[in-house]
Amino acid sequence: MAIKNVAVIGAGTMGNGIAHVFAQNGFSVKLIDVSEEQLEKALAAIDKNLARQVSKNTITDEVKTTALANISTYTSIKEGVANCQLVVEAATENVDLKLKIFKEIDVAAPEGCILASNTSSISITKIASVTTRPQLVIGMHFMNPVPVMKLVEIINGYSTGKGVTETIVSLSKQLGKIPCEVNDYPGFIANRILMPMINEAIYSLYEGVAGVEEIDNIMKLGMAHPMGPLQLADFIGLDVCHSILTVLHDGFGNPKYAPCPLLTNMVNAKKMGVKTGEGFYKYTAGSKELVVSEQFRK
Ligand code: CAA
Repeated sequence: MAIKNVAVIGAGTMGNGIAHVFAQNGFSVKLIDVSEEQLEKALAAIDKNLARQVSKNTITDEVKTTALANISTYTSIKEGVANCQLVVEAATENVDLKLKIFKEIDVAAPEGCILASNTSSISITKIASVTTRPQLVIGMHFMNPVPVMKLVEIINGYSTGKGVTETIVSLSKQLGKIPCEVNDYPGFIANRILMPMINEAIYSLYEGVAGVEEIDNIMKLGMAHPMGPLQLADFIGLDVCHSILTVLHDGFGNPKYAPCPLLTNMVNAKKMGVKTGEGFYKYTAGSKELVVSEQFRK
């Protein structure tokens, strides 16, 4: 089935990035969120990010105008998913919420419509099990910032059909991305490898082996990572890192994945990184300067 109409559920950072790349590549996008205000914020973010690409000459002004015209917004899942060949769910990383949403999409989406989740760690097989079409359920894990990062981690659930995987692999290439196929085990590949590194960086800070800047500079300057692991944790959200580590810990039953107590403390203190204005660093709107949080200054 040719994919032309795509619904994206959730208008947060990942949802607006996913809507952006589909719209930029000529798909008709229905962006769905319970909050009208969140939808308005998402459209403003997409406009700003497209303008950034125009100013860098990576797209033309015409592509920007067409991309924006390709997006319509909805507060109802039922109305948004009608006539779609693909739904990409990018709601908050909470298992109960995702299961509830998938039950609802399964009832409302047309027969044959593929249901994808952008989950960073929740089992695709578990998500598929609450639908009547597990063979049509797949993981499509985009990376933040979505318009910039080339990877789409494609996760095959236990029952995902081979033809569905082929369709999603080819679709990801149409978006200018590089798909990598993996199987459905805790953390898949991206977060199974990334999160233990971030957790180890937090343990190194917690044990006083080195400071925030030293840890991040060692990985930036020595390993050519664009961001150090502590800055990256702030960028992803410390609550998200904590919940992914918990999925790894529960899923494998191995203590090596247990979230560092410092990470747990910071999440409880609501110091969750960029989105709350403070994590390992302190963030001021409009400033790109990296300022270590007071808590970790020597
Ligand atoms: N939309 C469009 N373009 C954007 C953008 C956005 N949202 N954000 C940045 N860009 C563009 C900029 O315009 C710039 O373009 P040029 O190269 O043409 O100049 C380029 O991206 C670099 O941006 P900046 O100059 O603003 O800043 P930077 O050089 O510091 O790069 C970064 C920013 C791309 C975020 C870089 O620091 C980086 O790659 N960081 C690591 C990101 C990462 O690891 N992401 C994965 C996180 S894990 C995840 O998402 C999944 C999970 O499950 C947890």
